[in-house]
Amino acid sequence: MGFHSEEQWVQWIDQLAQHDYVVIDDFMLDDQLNEVLSYMRVALNNQDFRPAAIGTLDNRQRMTNIRGDQTFWLDRKRDNKVENFFLFVDEMIARINRLCFLSLAGYEFHYAHYPKGTFYKRHVDQFKDRSNRLITFILYLNDGWSPGDGGELMIYKDDQEIKVEPIMNRCVLFKTEGLEHEVLLSNTSRFSLTGWLLYQPSGVGYLLT
Ligand code: OGA
Ligand code: MN
Repeated sequence: MGFHSEEQWVQWIDQLAQHDYVVIDDFMLDDQLNEVLSYMRVALNNQDFRPAAIGTLDNRQRMTNIRGDQTFWLDRKRDNKVENFFLFVDEMIARINRLCFLSLAGYEFHYAHYPKGTFYKRHVDQFKDRSNRLITFILYLNDGWSPGDGGELMIYKDDQEIKVEPIMNRCVLFKTEGLEHEVLLSNTSRFSLTGWLLYQPSGVGYLLT
């Protein structure tokens, strides 16, 4: 591990703290990325992806008008094929905790597949169960993405609209609370590994203010 230097993390975390989001290219090492991609293919072949749910809404029609992605939740104990990804997550959490005086206590991750013609309307990430989501993590997995493919992430921050192209091995981190964002219409299958870093209510740090 330790692929990215401490200085590099300091810079990214500063950006996250100041601007509420940071975009990081070439995030994972090739081997880690390949594991993440192969396991995604396995899950797709096994048809392990399920339509994503929003809150308690159970009306499929209404739901796909808001979000059309399908997700496959990861379980570290079960999904040891992506253990290297989780080791990377451990390192990321350790760095954020140290640099931000936080006590991130856990995480939750899922693969997301937006089939052609789907999107996720402007929203703020909701809390799942009783977890406390502090930071949203998205790793894009779209080989050869090109502008006509759509599916860009739009971040709405103050008066700005920031468009992020979902290209392979690009990571986006943003403060979960209050940051509105949207996935634009995807004209082709769009893939990501998305998750949340969770904090203990007792944790204090400057990302929380
Ligand atoms: C989400 C989400 C953004 C993206 O899953 O809540 O907003 O770019 N994803 O995939
Ligand atoms: Mn979201």
